[in-house]
Amino acid sequence: MNSPEINALVQALNLTPENLQLKKIVLSKMMETTGYSESIIKYAKELNQEEPNNLEYTEILIQEYYKLENYSACMVIIENIQDPSQLSANGRASVAKVYLKSNEVDEARSVYTDLIAAYPDFVDDELDDQFRVKETVQELEVTDDQYFLKKPEATFDDVGGMAKVKKEIEMKIIKPLENQKLFASYGKKVGGGILMFGPPGCGKTFMAKATAGQIKANFINIGLNDILDMWIGNSEKNLHNYFEMARRNTPCVLFFDEIDALGGKRSDMKFSGNKNIINQFLSELDGIDSNNEGILIMGASNCPWDIDPAFRRPGRFDRIIFVPPPDQESREVIFELKMKEKPHENINYKSIASLTKDYSGADIDAVIDIAVEKVLEEAMETGNPRPLNSTDLQKAIKLHSPSTMEWFTTAKNYAVFANKSGLYDDILKYLKI
Ligand SMILES: Nc1ncnc2c1ncn2[C@@H]1O[C@H](COP(=O)(O)OP(=O)(O)O)[C@@H](O)[C@H]1O
Ligand SMILES: [Mg+2]
Repeated sequence: MNSPEINALVQALNLTPENLQLKKIVLSKMMETTGYSESIIKYAKELNQEEPNNLEYTEILIQEYYKLENYSACMVIIENIQDPSQLSANGRASVAKVYLKSNEVDEARSVYTDLIAAYPDFVDDELDDQFRVKETVQELEVTDDQYFLKKPEATFDDVGGMAKVKKEIEMKIIKPLENQKLFASYGKKVGGGILMFGPPGCGKTFMAKATAGQIKANFINIGLNDILDMWIGNSEKNLHNYFEMARRNTPCVLFFDEIDALGGKRSDMKFSGNKNIINQFLSELDGIDSNNEGILIMGASNCPWDIDPAFRRPGRFDRIIFVPPPDQESREVIFELKMKEKPHENINYKSIASLTKDYSGADIDAVIDIAVEKVLEEAMETGNPRPLNSTDLQKAIKLHSPSTMEWFTTAKNYAVFANKSGLYDDILKYLKI
């Protein structure tokens, strides 16, 4: 409190209190010294009133109240900030710490996550301790086995229907892989991936797995939401590690589920503005620094409208396939495939399939599950096990409603109003619009 320089400045300011420039100088001098908290708060408040849109003074107030451990005052200020995205990195860190002190851990984490996304190099020991997974663990530690389903058993024969998807996969990625020399002789690079989209439960993941099984390749299944959630701030490195793992284990199907989690367009995106991870993903896809030979890249999304259009450029996910709910014929096949493993008799697959319009493959799994449970219950009561029949399935169908319609309500809006470059033509066709 006894800096002669500051004392002189304060005296000068008292004579010309309207001199804002001087006030700012006094304030910054005080902030370089300790013990001036109360005066700092006073001047910062005054300056804040003069320049309500200048968050600099808001941040100073938060920091000073924080030092004084007056967290409720901090909270009041924070709640009044109109646009938190305008805060500086330090300002955001202060906000996160205030939330922590107020035991609002989720809020704190969300502010911190956004902060790291916007400023990947930002470091703060207290916040890092709390939220960032430690450096050693932080880097992806998975062994080649872990995220691997080594050579899935299922093949195309286990996937009911989906003829168009199978054909596309065959032509676009399997054949080129088997005929790399031929492609090369025409100067054509093998690459690019297939993106499947459609309502949940209709076989996107299953199909990717079966593709690997079909060509006896390894299979790596990556849910992008997992990567983003688990390793805040280190997602790029981990993404790179997955690609490297695939490169070490060719032939390999590298399957990315929930591609939309990386969507730049997502308004509620946890990583709003995080271009780093998207750029990393794109350069891995392009094989800029490395070779993707022998890797089949597949992706899936239930929300294709959230996907960053940059993913759809040539050589990336340049084949986009709609995976609709199974049609009558496909449902017959799926029911038949699934019943193969269970004791059954006299099942009229045509009529069963006709009762399950709009049911997904996963719904069919559920229906069979219900039917099996009932028959098991009965068997335990009577002590007399019997095979499943059509009536069992009919009853089960009544107990399980189809799950795909909800998806179409959303999809329809995009297909009708945002069908740029015909991306959703297949949805319109399916809905007969
Ligand atoms: N065409 C299909 N043929 C056989 N089973 C299917 C088919 N579609 C879905 N299923 C079953 O439904 C389950 C869920 O499908 P999944 O591939 O996870 O759906 P999605 O990834 O599209 O949400 C699969 O594990 C599989 O048992
Ligand atoms: Mg899936």
